[in-house]
Amino acid sequence: MTMIIDAKERIDYDELSKAAQILREGGLVAFPTETVYGLGANALLKEAVDRIFVAKGRPQDNPLIVHISSIDMLEMCAEVTDKRVYDLIKRLWPGPLTIVLPKKKCIPDNVTAGLSTVGIRMPNNKIALELIRLSGVPIAAPSANVSGRPSPTEAQHVIDDLFGKVDVIIDGGRCSFGLESTVVDLSTSKPCILRPGAVPFSVLKEIIDEIEYDPSALNGNISSSPKAPGMKYRHYAPDAKLIVVKGKAHKRIDKINEIKKNLEAKGYRVGILCFYETALNFESQYKLILGSMFDCEECSRNLFSVLRKFNQLGVDYILCEWGEFGIEYLALENRLFKASANNVIEVL
Ligand code: TXA
Ligand code: MG
Repeated sequence: MTMIIDAKERIDYDELSKAAQILREGGLVAFPTETVYGLGANALLKEAVDRIFVAKGRPQDNPLIVHISSIDMLEMCAEVTDKRVYDLIKRLWPGPLTIVLPKKKCIPDNVTAGLSTVGIRMPNNKIALELIRLSGVPIAAPSANVSGRPSPTEAQHVIDDLFGKVDVIIDGGRCSFGLESTVVDLSTSKPCILRPGAVPFSVLKEIIDEIEYDPSALNGNISSSPKAPGMKYRHYAPDAKLIVVKGKAHKRIDKINEIKKNLEAKGYRVGILCFYETALNFESQYKLILGSMFDCEECSRNLFSVLRKFNQLGVDYILCEWGEFGIEYLALENRLFKASANNVIEVL
């Protein structure tokens, strides 16, 4: 049975303590963070962590992020060999930054998929922080979706994917970022970004000037062995076939309308994913808006929930417009391209 706790308006500490106890004793608890919902288990109990992989249908070689609520917990789980870690933490924790460091013995091998490093993050969400603090242990948590599906940004998404498979789901309302954390590797002397995410490159660069993207983290680079193992799987995918059309506004609009006409002539239901500014150029009963093309944060917040809405509409194809946007759109572009399995048409 799955218990649902409503914490949207206020935290009921009796209920949260119950959830924390279930976590501590080996149960699975889904909880909100500022990025996406996480599916938590006691990171010190191998059997509890095994249950995460079963509930999500997650490949065993994809390591989990360990969530903590204090610096003591960080030092219990990982070797902080590089003093620049503290520079990052001071500016960005609690927040959407995961730091990969050499792991300590207390972290079982299934958390890190056998790697000698562990990814750690302190989430910036009151419910998450209090849940971890009350449980008294670090919490291993991937995103709380069935593997391969769009990440959950509302409790209803978690209910749709995992009801009956987990012990507790805590509803904390909509996630404020809507895209996952940025993953940086500080386990070697050369700091690098393994996954683009909610913390932009420019902010990391201000703190650690030498930091660079690992080539496998950049779009269009489909490597079979990226340093963040999770980057190699098809991810975030809606039920329909998603095609991204990238280019200048008038070109991509024409191209989308052309593809739409051809698909509809063959009897397919075609969804359109577009921006406010261009929406009037598309005629469709299955049209959804990502946000303003000038508001990266708004589009990021909406992406996963919009992809899930197309599942309810039951379309066969989704045609999504995309432009030549700046570096701040990189994480969003990364998720969108992955959701399409790199099915991107560039119109020049
Ligand atoms: O925002 C987030 O990061 C969310 C919330 C719940 O905190 N979590 C999340 O977890 O996105 P997940 O499991 O969906 O993605 C974790 C990513 C994967 O790409 C994984 O390969 C990478 O982090 N990762 C974890 N530990 C790692 C390690 N030791 N070395 C390299 N990559 C690691
Ligand atoms: Mg995930």
